[in-house]
Amino acid sequence: KRVAIGVDVGGTNTAIGVVDPEGNVMVKDNISTPSHGDIERYISDLADAIKELIKSVKLLNKDIEILGIGIGAPNGNYYSGTIEYAPNLSFKGVVHVVKLLRTHFSDLEAVALTNDANAAAIGEMIYGGAKDMKNFVLFTLGTGVGSGLVVNGDLVYGHDGFAGECGHTTLVPGGRMCGCTSLGHLEAYCSAPGMKRTAFELLAYYNATDSVLANKSYNELDSKMIYEAAVEGDKVALEVFEKTGAWLGQGLADTVHHLSPEAIFLFGGPTAAGDYIFKPTKKHMEKHLLPIFKDKIKILPSELKPGDAAIVGASALVWKELEK
Ligand code: BGC
Ligand code: NA
Repeated sequence: KRVAIGVDVGGTNTAIGVVDPEGNVMVKDNISTPSHGDIERYISDLADAIKELIKSVKLLNKDIEILGIGIGAPNGNYYSGTIEYAPNLSFKGVVHVVKLLRTHFSDLEAVALTNDANAAAIGEMIYGGAKDMKNFVLFTLGTGVGSGLVVNGDLVYGHDGFAGECGHTTLVPGGRMCGCTSLGHLEAYCSAPGMKRTAFELLAYYNATDSVLANKSYNELDSKMIYEAAVEGDKVALEVFEKTGAWLGQGLADTVHHLSPEAIFLFGGPTAAGDYIFKPTKKHMEKHLLPIFKDKIKILPSELKPGDAAIVGASALVWKELEK
């Protein structure tokens, strides 16, 4: 049985899994993404963790053949296998992930890296809801906001390999500071930390001491708590979703105008809130769309299994490499 390894580089954790050809995670593990830049050490820890997983999966089934490693990372560049100037990671400058990892895995058929949202889009194409789609966009909402653009059946990489940095489009001129230090980017409003900022702004604005979210510290509050509070009918939490949807819908309308996709998939933690986030997003996207696009664009949840989705997406890059 031929299998692939998927690695998802996140702000605090790096998730690793061995994924079968049907997109099921067979075994998985986590290492921490360093909070300061000891890259060599990080890559050798990653290599060790991967080797351990390979060992344990071979104990389950000795006929397993490992084809390669696919990595998804913020500010990842497929062409050069590098992570470059990632605003939400501790790595400084350009990190040659593929080159460094190759020194530990010289015999594999493929070791490849792409942007994390691109990896999710490839996963959606191979295993998820985009199987029969030639034109779609996937937005990841997490610590950052990223996107993968699929046009005429292919992921768009662009000249330098960074196409699809839609989280860094300007939504509010002169607005909130983004992790990249520019002002007013979509990411500063629609990421999980962006939702937290909205919650704190509203708590202060209404002096809402009766809100379920009042008295939570910045580090404590997360998008899941905001969702749970919304379910209980908390006014501040409900307004956080309404506002997040308004911002996201406006951003998605721009993407529709650029690419004319069949659908937009939303991926990542905050999307677990379901209708609370999808409904206002759809409503506000429609409001901003030209008549030629109205009522035509689907906004869909990712069909990859939550929890494993990022690993599965990254592993799908290996299959995509081998198609070539
Ligand atoms: C980065 C993207 C990434 C996204 C989600 C953004 O800040 O610029 O490359 O896809 O976060 O992690
Ligand atoms: Na991308």
